[in-house]
Amino acid sequence: MYRSHHCNQLRSSDVGQEVTLAGWVDSTRDHGGVIFVDLRDREGRTQIVFRPEECPEVAATAHTLRNEDVIQVTGKVVHRVDGTRNPKLSTGDIEVVASWLAILNRSEILPFPIDSEVGNEDLRLTHRYLDLRRPALMRNLKVRHQVAKVTREYLDRNGYLEIETPVLSKSTPEGAREFLVPSRLIPHHYYALSQSPQQYKQLLMVGGIEKYFQIAKCFRDEDPRADRITELTQIDLEASFIEREDIVRLVEGLLVEVFRATRGVDLQTPFLRLTYREAMDRFGIDKPDLRFGMEFVDLRDLFARSEFKVFRGALDSGGAVKCLNAKGFARITAGQIEDLTSLAKESGAKGLAFIKVEDGEWKSPIVKFFADHEKAGLKQRLGVEEGDLLLFGADRWEIVCLVLGRIRLKVAEMQGLIKDPNELKFLWVFDFPLMGFDPAENKWSAMHHPFTRPKGEDLPLLENGDYGKVRAEAYDVVLNGVEIGGGSIRIHEQDLQAKMFEVLGIPAEQQQQLFGHLLKAFTFGAPPHGGIALGVDRLVMLITGTPNIRDVIAFPKNSRGLDLMMDAPSKVPEKQLRELHIRNRKN
Ligand code: AMO
Ligand code: AMP
Repeated sequence: MYRSHHCNQLRSSDVGQEVTLAGWVDSTRDHGGVIFVDLRDREGRTQIVFRPEECPEVAATAHTLRNEDVIQVTGKVVHRVDGTRNPKLSTGDIEVVASWLAILNRSEILPFPIDSEVGNEDLRLTHRYLDLRRPALMRNLKVRHQVAKVTREYLDRNGYLEIETPVLSKSTPEGAREFLVPSRLIPHHYYALSQSPQQYKQLLMVGGIEKYFQIAKCFRDEDPRADRITELTQIDLEASFIEREDIVRLVEGLLVEVFRATRGVDLQTPFLRLTYREAMDRFGIDKPDLRFGMEFVDLRDLFARSEFKVFRGALDSGGAVKCLNAKGFARITAGQIEDLTSLAKESGAKGLAFIKVEDGEWKSPIVKFFADHEKAGLKQRLGVEEGDLLLFGADRWEIVCLVLGRIRLKVAEMQGLIKDPNELKFLWVFDFPLMGFDPAENKWSAMHHPFTRPKGEDLPLLENGDYGKVRAEAYDVVLNGVEIGGGSIRIHEQDLQAKMFEVLGIPAEQQQQLFGHLLKAFTFGAPPHGGIALGVDRLVMLITGTPNIRDVIAFPKNSRGLDLMMDAPSKVPEKQLRELHIRNRKN
């Protein structure tokens, strides 16, 4: 038996027992010949004492120990003497006095110290197997395990079957750029790595499965970002004969159980709900962070006849004027105002009008243009008080929302408005636009994906070609400003799906070539269905409060998409390429 206990198990009540522990040397200290070793395993740490006066040979061996050596120790559990207890450690009341020691393996000097956050991330990722010994990473992986476990139990209890779908799939324009895999057996043909099981899960519904889920790997060849990775994991689910409310209730129930198991909190349901339009109108973003306020106030009517040309001009051409009150931020520095103005301009604004309320005065280059009733109106609607900073956007509605949305987040960061790291603000966003127009490509593209159902009452708009106004039966679940999941009720009729593809610029022949399987399946009694996918990586980030998405993944790619430990991607021998019927181009 390698061990009788793990390193986070022994307490005062175990004093007197003889125990055997195994693990890594976390640290060693020599106090005048008496050697203290912190022994670490997956669960925690226990202090071991080697006393030369009791076991001279064992102590002599202990003298040679270095950090990260792997050892096995037998000894007796004793109380620590008064004044040496460590209240920060759950085993801090006891120590084990060693009577026997085996060195199971030695460790070279590590390229970086295990338990320190500092250091070059690429170096850590190159030696990820060492980085994983860091307790913080271990904790993240345990949370990830719990999320998967709770999910499986919960969805099983709700009648969902866990079914695997292929990773090697077909290249279809679904949204993200795909990874391609050349076929050896069929020259010059390619698989695509599944960017999500979307079409398979819909085909499972046609197959009569009714309730499906999978903890699915998805591959998207996008540039990695703070909360965006190329190889992500989703809790993916789909059901037949359901409505939006069924999915919403199911997911709320799942999140309640996940947060109870991992954070020990009881979430309040139902979550708040906003339509896309409300979210944009009030917060300028489709995934608002509700841990702070600074809602926009609409000033259309107040400035409809204003003398101030910037506002009046925007309104006369059908745009919007909105304002947010950054309470207590009149002390903003000139440099910070400049940063905000640059951010506004980068986001498409022509400027960023502001008013500082200081010493009872409204300090601003624009106040002189305001009539008294406009000032009074502002004061009343925005609850203006001494010390406030008002920030304005005047432009097309979309631009005002986008700009002030970014300003709101930046101001919250500058002011440090998120005080309680444990706060959890969930909400649903409903009624997204079905499509958005992409001027660069001069075509419409699906906001969620092309299988999303238009809202029934908006079908006439689709028929009339008023595509920008059609809303989708789509929903996102948002936590603290992060989209943790998204889904929709789907199209299940062949003609509506074909119409949708057509609007998205996929002509009939190409529809057959790309999506023939789905269109055909829909002609054989496809049931009404819908579903959602939750991003596991993002969810675990939020549960653990980890700012770096790579820290919730055992073996992540770095920020440039490289696996530094395995050294992937890598070159391959010509012979291998030849078998795949491909040749490297020179340029
Ligand atoms: P969607 O593309 O919105 O929907 O993805 C669902 C959820 O997966 C997470 N996610 C990501 N997490 C990290 N890095 C990424 N690159 C990344 N992309 C997505 C997000 C997101 O909310 N098939 C549909 C779902 C459906 O309609 O049922 C889909 O994949 O948390
Ligand atoms: P101007 O009259 O262009 O000098 O603008 C006066 C103030 O209004 C400056 O502080 C500008 O930054 C600001 N401003 C100009 N255009 C806009 C706009 N579209 N939205 C918000 N503020 C603006």
